[in-house]
Amino acid sequence: MEYTEFGKTQLRVSRMCLGTWGIGGAGWDSYSDESRMDAIKAAVDCGINFIDTAPAYNGGRAEQYIGEVVHKLGVRKEVVLATKCGNEFINGKYVRCGAADKIMRECEESLRNLKTDYIDVYLVHWPDPNVPMEETMDALNTLKKQGKILHIGVSNFTKEQMEEAEKYCAIEAYQPQYSMVDRKWEQLIRWACAQKMGVMTYGTLGGGILTGKYRELKEYGVDDNRNRFYPYFKEPLFSKVMLLLRTMDQISEERNVPLSQIALNWTLQRPFISSCIIGAQSRDKIEENCKVFEWKLSDDEMQLLEQALKKTII
Ligand SMILES: NC(=O)c1ccc[n+]([C@@H]2O[C@H](COP(=O)([O-])OP(=O)(O)OC[C@H]3O[C@@H](n4cnc5c(N)ncnc54)[C@H](OP(=O)(O)O)[C@@H]3O)[C@@H](O)[C@H]2O)c1
Repeated sequence: MEYTEFGKTQLRVSRMCLGTWGIGGAGWDSYSDESRMDAIKAAVDCGINFIDTAPAYNGGRAEQYIGEVVHKLGVRKEVVLATKCGNEFINGKYVRCGAADKIMRECEESLRNLKTDYIDVYLVHWPDPNVPMEETMDALNTLKKQGKILHIGVSNFTKEQMEEAEKYCAIEAYQPQYSMVDRKWEQLIRWACAQKMGVMTYGTLGGGILTGKYRELKEYGVDDNRNRFYPYFKEPLFSKVMLLLRTMDQISEERNVPLSQIALNWTLQRPFISSCIIGAQSRDKIEENCKVFEWKLSDDEMQLLEQALKKTII
């Protein structure tokens, strides 16, 4: 495992962060409780000390799994827990909620779920256009003063929204989407990094499509995140990603490494990213992903991928 400073927070985090949207158990493939909790344990075993979650991941279920495992292992002080506020999961739908009273309540619940009395990194999950930024950020300031959260961050914010938020408090962490197949936030990420924010990016595996496990177009249910969140599982992007996979397959064969490690390797080579978040619900996948630190894509391979990306995705 590799570790790095998380922006100006003085936290030292693993460059791979465990994502727990899938582990929460809604909108992704279903695994047993045992597998999900063992995946969290596997992450700790592999040296991952950074875990990303949110109350929106199945109404707090993901937080509860983490709380249970971290408590059982007795590693609360060794792990950096990032959770979020301002996005509720109600009757299978995600509802933005930046109101101060809701955030105060959400935080108490997250603390209970996570079996802890402090959250290392607390992010606004999505901006709420119906609530003044000042109200949302002031609520976070209050929580920080109370010692319930240590560092404030934002996710899915535009530059204008980040600048507006910074009028009310210091933003120390930023969580946008970033992967081989989604680079639209790259300029903003570089800016955030220059501001000394810790940058944790999500969707590193394009929601799984960059692992090569999806080779045929399929229909997913309305509540499946492959249907409603990531656009790669439908045309026209599906066929474009399949073309990119041909180049990844070639590297995979030559190197004898899985495609997932190529996608991870590519992201980890970006110096403006502190830690990339990977969602996985079983020990074998976590262990396989962590082997990415044993090798590095060469300049020629990076160029080959760049050419393939130019021809296909960007
Ligand atoms: N802030 C936000 O708005 C936001 C949005 C999206 C995600 N996130 C965070 O970022 C995390 C990661 O994003 P994500 O989970 O959406 O997408 P992702 O990490 O790009 O992909 C996750 C998918 O890849 C699969 N996978 C992982 N390792 C694999 C391997 N070695 N071989 C084959 N398949 C593998 C997982 O399978 P299994 O599930 O079957 O194990 C899952 O289907 C989330 O869990 C969440 O913590 C944040």
